[in-house]
Formats: sequence, structure tokens, C-alpha cells
Amino acid sequence: MSLTGIFLILFLVVHCYINAQIFWNDGGHKFEEAAHFMGTNFIIRTVEIGLTAFLLLHIIQGLNLWLSNRSKRSVRYTVSAGNQTSAWYRRSMGVLGSLLLIFLVIHTAKFWIPNRASQISGNGELPLYHLMKDEFQYGWVVIVYIIGCITLSWHLVHGFWSSFQTLGLATHRYKYLINGIGIAFAIIVPLVFALMPLAFYFHWID
Ligand code: HEM
Repeated sequence: MSLTGIFLILFLVVHCYINAQIFWNDGGHKFEEAAHFMGTNFIIRTVEIGLTAFLLLHIIQGLNLWLSNRSKRSVRYTVSAGNQTSAWYRRSMGVLGSLLLIFLVIHTAKFWIPNRASQISGNGELPLYHLMKDEFQYGWVVIVYIIGCITLSWHLVHGFWSSFQTLGLATHRYKYLINGIGIAFAIIVPLVFALMPLAFYFHWID
């Protein structure tokens, strides 16, 4: 889970950086340029297959871990220790991950699937900037994205730290550093993502 998680964290950095090009407010010029490179470059397209495989693997591993944790105790605790032994988001990774999965199904159905379908049918790439602009005029779409970003944030607070902990890198010396970077990452990346639908909805960019 740790390695697939780190790969997905790297994907988020690239995805966030490319999408953040919309904030140049240049009618999507810089963003479309970057998106075109990502959408047509052979190496990136190959990595995309890896991304899909890693995402599926991460989900399967998470499900396995959850099932194995459950099977270790046939009798449930009568009293829950609550937040005394671990924070709620550390115990709710399965629920947060499932919510993220629902978000990802909606998200890929809105952008990635139509874009690939258009490419495969020979009609070329879709103008993603305008697609985003249109999609984010709907209040409910913006709300779904904000909820998706909040969920991502909580999932990352534990996930980032946990990835390094499993690899044995969160030693006593680096524990606070990794925790700090993890929390900063879990706030900044989802916040930048959340600003995207808001920027289109409130016409901060055009
Ligand atoms: C909230 C702002 C976001 C916007 C505006 C956005 C926009 C997009 C767009 C336009 C694409 C299609 C790219 C293409 O066709 O090549 C895409 C793909 C994708 N997005 Fe997002 N995204 C956002 C947030 C997220 C988040 C938070 C996640 C993950 C938790 C995510 C995961 C993905 C994935 C897995 C793909 C398919 C990647 C690929 O293989 O090309 N996105 N996104």
C-alpha cells in the first residue's frame, strides 16, 4: 500500500501542477498546452496504464487490509476507545477511500472518459479548459468536487505519513518532519484542487 500510495501522491503533484495552469487566467492557453503534452506523449500514456494499475492495486490492498483487520477479532469491542488510541481519520481510511472512489468514478466520467473516447474515435482531444468551465457552472458539481477534495485531504493526512512509516523512513529522527510535510501536503494540494471549481463557478478566471 505504501509504494502504490507514494506513486499516487506523485501523480497528484503532477495533476495539481498541470491543472493549476488555469490560474494564469489566459483563457486556458498554458493549461491546454500542458494537457496536450500529457494527453499525447507516448511515455505519459504508458505511465497512465501504470497509474490505473496502481490505483486498482491500492484499492484491492486497502480492502484486503480492512478484511484482515476485521477477521482478527471475531467478537467486536463492546466499548470503543474512540479518539483516545487513534484519531478518527486514521481509523476511517476505508470509508474515506470509498468516498474518494465514488468521487473518482464521477470525475473520470466527466473528463477522462469523454476525452479518451474522442481521441480513440479519431476526433482528437477535447478542449478540456472549456469542458471544465462548462462543468463548473453547476453548483452540485462544484459541491461534489469540494467534498471530494475534503475527503482527499483527510485520506492524505494519514496516508502520507503511513506510506513513509511502512517503508521504515519515519524514524524517531524524521518522525516530526515527515508528519509536518504530510500535513502541509494534505492541506495545500486539496486546497489548490478545490480552488479550481470555485474559480470557474465564481468567475475569478474566465
Ligand atoms: C478538483 C479539481 C480537479 C480538476 C479540475 C481535474 C481535472 C481533470 C481532467 C481535465 C482530467 C482529464 C485529463 C485527460 O483527459 O488527460 C483529469 C483526469 C484525472 N484526474 Fe483529475 N481533476 C481534479 C481533481 C482530481 C483529484 C482530487 C483526483 C484524485 C483524487 C483526480 C484524479 C484524476 C485521475 C485518476 C485522472 C485520470 C488520469 C489520467 O490517467 O490521465 N483529479 N482530471
